[in-house]
Amino acid sequence: MERYYVTTPIYYVNDEPHLGHIYTTIAADVLARYQRMSGRDVFFLTGVDEHGQKVEQAAAARGIAPIALADQVVERYRTLWPELAISNDDFIRTSSERHKAGVQAMWRKLENAGTIYKDFYEDWYCVPCETYWTETQLKDADCWDSTTCPDCKRAVEKIQEESYFFRLSAFQDRLVEHIRANPDFIAPASRRNEVLSFVESGLRDLSISRTTFSWGIPVPGDDKHVIYVWIDALTNYLSALGFPDPETPVHWPADVHLIGKDILRFHAVYWPAMLMAADLPLPKRIFAHGWWTVEGEKMSKSKGNALRPAELLEQYDADVLRYFLLREVPFGQDGDFSFSALKQRYNSELANDVGNLLNRSLAMLNKYQQGELLAAGEEQAVDRALIADVEAMQRDVAAALEKQAFHLALERINEVVRHGNRYVEENAPWSLAKAGDSARLATVLYHLVEMLRLVALQLLPFMPEKMSRMLAQIQPEMEDAGRLSFVEHGGWGVLQGGHRCAKPQPIFPRME
Ligand code: MSP
Repeated sequence: MERYYVTTPIYYVNDEPHLGHIYTTIAADVLARYQRMSGRDVFFLTGVDEHGQKVEQAAAARGIAPIALADQVVERYRTLWPELAISNDDFIRTSSERHKAGVQAMWRKLENAGTIYKDFYEDWYCVPCETYWTETQLKDADCWDSTTCPDCKRAVEKIQEESYFFRLSAFQDRLVEHIRANPDFIAPASRRNEVLSFVESGLRDLSISRTTFSWGIPVPGDDKHVIYVWIDALTNYLSALGFPDPETPVHWPADVHLIGKDILRFHAVYWPAMLMAADLPLPKRIFAHGWWTVEGEKMSKSKGNALRPAELLEQYDADVLRYFLLREVPFGQDGDFSFSALKQRYNSELANDVGNLLNRSLAMLNKYQQGELLAAGEEQAVDRALIADVEAMQRDVAAALEKQAFHLALERINEVVRHGNRYVEENAPWSLAKAGDSARLATVLYHLVEMLRLVALQLLPFMPEKMSRMLAQIQPEMEDAGRLSFVEHGGWGVLQGGHRCAKPQPIFPRME
């Protein structure tokens, strides 16, 4: 069986979940569900990043131990994911023994490959961003006088300490070569170019251990040092699969790491270099999505305007959020979350288009044929055009999701729904009923219901609960929509004459 491995970033436990975290996780979930329905052996991983100075400081500020803070926030994530219908196969904590074993094994591999050395280190460090800056970088960014971080503009600290280094510079040429030879490795293309010019401008070796705090995984054989939080965190993608036993787990390499644009350098430069050093295959793709603002404003802790999932779930069904987040903004671009945009999209695309087509089709089937589907008679050109459109849509959705173009996949499905609504108008079943043309009426109703079934199947990964309800109206005998697959149920003509549908029940009532 073909395998598929998709990951989200592991989320820091110094903050509660917000819109940005659910975004990536929902996107990963849609891919995982879609690939499972396509017959692949899927592994979908998410989890939390518990170590590092940032977490240590956040815990200290609350007067508790870092692990106590981690335990609290982990619970938030664990209970949140089922509420959003997230179907992850595993949940990794970096404080777990299995993860520590993986990270220490990775360290040993890097060491055995001769890519780690000890030296002294003097630099500027931004704690909130976990990022090091050289004097030159601060000067270039006009941050030297204020000694603030070029990214977040908060104060940077001067650091001088003994440290282990990873020979990142030795991988510059191979990285450039790999990125050039594999155009799909980093997406979207604009991000790929950014990474390429960053690597080409020269890489310095990376300090990968700390002695100034202790909340982390000790360096094997030198426990004065704690392993740099990003070496620790990135290795989660392997440790969750059981690495180092086996060294190359069956689901490795990942098909896609979904991340936000701010953590691209770690994933597209450091991680591949580590894997090259450890002689392990590289992930096939890294996709960096954009950032959300909320009602036109940047979310920030200080402003207290971070959009919390609990607040959203009080107002909207999980599926509506899932749909909106992936439909509203092309994946890869920045976007704005606004309640009015959500309402507008919901009413026009879900209530009016999909919901209405389902209701009117099943209402007519119940009115004219007592809910019974009759075998389709001779097909006319309009019927063939509808089938062809559905089949083309299925291919287009697959191609769009291969490229993580969620918005295009949804737009293409909506196009077929609009086609269905036009088909109703053009074939006017009410006139056929009036004229007593029961053969043509049966054919038209068959085409409508069968297309609705296939539309619901394509939308199932996006809106698992709503689409299960839609399918339960079309196929009331079916017990569990979760078992449907494109392979078995994705073809035209699965429903047979004599099949009975339920009475329509609105799944997308209008929002006022
Ligand atoms: N722990 C690291 C990731 C390690 S992965 C090996 C981390 N954690 S985080 O919790 O700070 O951020 C997780 C993700 O949330 C990042 O991908 C980031 O891009 C995303 N987002 C944070 N704010 C966001 C928005 N406003 N909009 C969209 N995504 C955002 O970084």
